[in-house]
Amino acid sequence: ANQRITIIPGDGIGPSIIESAVEILDKLDCGFEFDYAYAGLAAVEKFGHLLPQQTLDLIAQNKVVLKGPLTTPIGEGFTSINVTLRKHFKLFANLRPVISFKGTKSRYEQIDIITIRENTEGLYSGLGQKMAEDGSSAEATSLITRQAASNIVEFAYKLAKREGRKKITLIHKANILKSTSGLFLSVGREIAKRHPEITTEEMIVDNACMQLVMNPEKFDVIVTTNLFGDIISDLCAGLVGGLGMAPSANIGEDCAIFEAVHGSAPDIAGKNLANPTSVILASIQLLEHLGLTDKAAKLRAAVRDTIEKGDRTTRDLGGTAGTSEFTQAILERL
Ligand code: NAI
Ligand code: MG
Repeated sequence: ANQRITIIPGDGIGPSIIESAVEILDKLDCGFEFDYAYAGLAAVEKFGHLLPQQTLDLIAQNKVVLKGPLTTPIGEGFTSINVTLRKHFKLFANLRPVISFKGTKSRYEQIDIITIRENTEGLYSGLGQKMAEDGSSAEATSLITRQAASNIVEFAYKLAKREGRKKITLIHKANILKSTSGLFLSVGREIAKRHPEITTEEMIVDNACMQLVMNPEKFDVIVTTNLFGDIISDLCAGLVGGLGMAPSANIGEDCAIFEAVHGSAPDIAGKNLANPTSVILASIQLLEHLGLTDKAAKLRAAVRDTIEKGDRTTRDLGGTAGTSEFTQAILERL
């Protein structure tokens, strides 16, 4: 049977960049069938609910999702739909690859880093949130379990092997956060011993930030806890030209959700100005996830050629083309 993919167009610029990605996936002839599902404001309009049950069902059924950015209404006690999806489908690994393309506003040319962020624990566990009644203090629990630490580090080594990568940097702060970061580091060291064919390096997070800006070419795979991974992966996006170039995969035991890192960009929605590259790069992650590495490589080359040639790129890349013309340029190369 054909692989079915759940498509969530999302809000703001979501539907137009997702349309670009779907056209491109169609052109690649992978035999995909697409099922559309809705979440965010689009779902409120259609079904009166931010995250309808039929959307959850379609995600569970197809197990592979390409998702546009969602607008979460502010201030009315709504929890982020993205966080809800992450929890519901136990998407424990967040993969954020960044690659240099000539023709972007990046200052670097040789970057190829993948950050693997633990997606469920650490300071983002949501546990132990307390605020003193008089507002004089606040606290939150950072939880690291041996199981989750080991899952994410093992995942990193597996990915490094599959992609033929050479080095893993374990990023931590075990000198200060002795219990939590300490446990993460010691689990990382145990697992590293079982993978001598991959070079393992340890780096304290603040130093890592400096090294990433000074010598980003020296990094290969980064694996780290939730908060550090959140910050470092955005830093890495900045190294290759910003949010328009940054895809993300949320991977669980059963399901995987692929998306752009950026939001719904309401300021440019409906104007044919959005750069679809992030979500197209997320489609490349999707192809790799399904083992379609040749198709992934073909698409990456087409995106690279289009951006490097530079005559039909979007405004944020310094060009004058709209979303549809840029997409057309990629389609022609395919
Ligand atoms: P944003 O990422 O939507 O926009 C930030 C700036 O970057 C804006 O100036 C926007 O025009 C520009 N930008 C973003 N993507 C672009 C693209 N593909 N091409 C060209 N320019 C682009 O962040 P903001 O404004 O903070 O959030 C807007 C909404 O998106 C909020 O409701 C937020 O909750 C939601 N959001 C959703 C995410 C998701 O579903 N994964 C992630 C981040 C934000
Ligand atoms: Mg973030």
